[in-house]
Amino acid sequence: MTVASALPPGVVGIHALPADHHDGPWDSIITTPEVKDRLLGTALLVLRHGRALDQLSGPPHGLVVLAGPPGTGKTTLCQGLAQRAALALSTRGATTFVEVDPHAFPHEMLGESQRAVTRLFSDTLPELAARRPHTVVLVDEIETMAVRRNTASFETNPVDVHRATDALLAGLDQLRSRCPQVLLLTTTNFPAAVDGAFLDRADLVLELGLPDLDTIVMILRSTMAEAAALFPELDRLAADEALLRHLAETCVGLDGRRLRKLFLAAIARRPATAVDPAALTAADLVAAARSEVGDSYRLDRTTMAARS
Ligand SMILES: Nc1ncnc2c1ncn2[C@@H]1O[C@H](COP(=O)(O)OP(=O)(O)O)[C@@H](O)[C@H]1O
Ligand SMILES: [Mg+2]
Repeated sequence: MTVASALPPGVVGIHALPADHHDGPWDSIITTPEVKDRLLGTALLVLRHGRALDQLSGPPHGLVVLAGPPGTGKTTLCQGLAQRAALALSTRGATTFVEVDPHAFPHEMLGESQRAVTRLFSDTLPELAARRPHTVVLVDEIETMAVRRNTASFETNPVDVHRATDALLAGLDQLRSRCPQVLLLTTTNFPAAVDGAFLDRADLVLELGLPDLDTIVMILRSTMAEAAALFPELDRLAADEALLRHLAETCVGLDGRRLRKLFLAAIARRPATAVDPAALTAADLVAAARSEVGDSYRLDRTTMAARS
């Protein structure tokens, strides 16, 4: 990875893939096989045939949007997808994976965000794309860049919002025509806040919802198996399918991030288990699950109250 000070504005990471230490994310996110197949299919099509397909009257835009509530694995899936696609294409050359954080753009000055977005698409990304045969770009939380132009915000100058969104759309079209083989992955927690013209350009828009009961069981099973790999005494809890099922039923409504953290929340509830996680009991896990669900309910109420 490049050192932070050498990175262009807004870019928070540049990686050469495939790389072994990027192997984890794809398998760590539990989804239906269809979600992963469609993501990988779209990615390979653009990366491998983007240039040729550009001849079509309706060419792909090389744009994927993953939408869904926070903590549903969107960012992690994109990181995993870059590695998976890079692995599949490795005989044809390496892949550059560029991570963009729109929050990292300077926005103190009026018009500054617009210039930064233009620079990203017209200079930074084409320069990076020239380095290796394949390039995957992840722009996380795109709603901050592609703000719907017909909704004025209280804090931001609406004219500036307009210009930044216009700059993004123009930049996207420019990148497409110069580098049709670049894959642009984007995520959003608030699809309703993303500009329609942006969504319209996407080749694939996937909605990731909160995990259903069976997925919750799988996430908890995988989390407890990881815990038992660290603390073998926890094997008895990890192998207790009835307990996992009961926990999962309690946890309906929690997102994947909080489910992954349930084990940590459970051992942190008592000093004795914090010092010796092997002392964790089924009752600790159930109590943690109940309190997580209660917390998330209270959090939702507070956020909703704050918004209204
Ligand atoms: N479907 C899922 N299966 C397994 N783990 C998940 C799932 N969704 C989220 N997670 C866990 O939550 C963490 C945070 O996910 P992240 O990709 O940051 O979510 P988002 O970008 O949607 O907010 C992941 O590292 C993963 O451990
Ligand atoms: Mg995210």
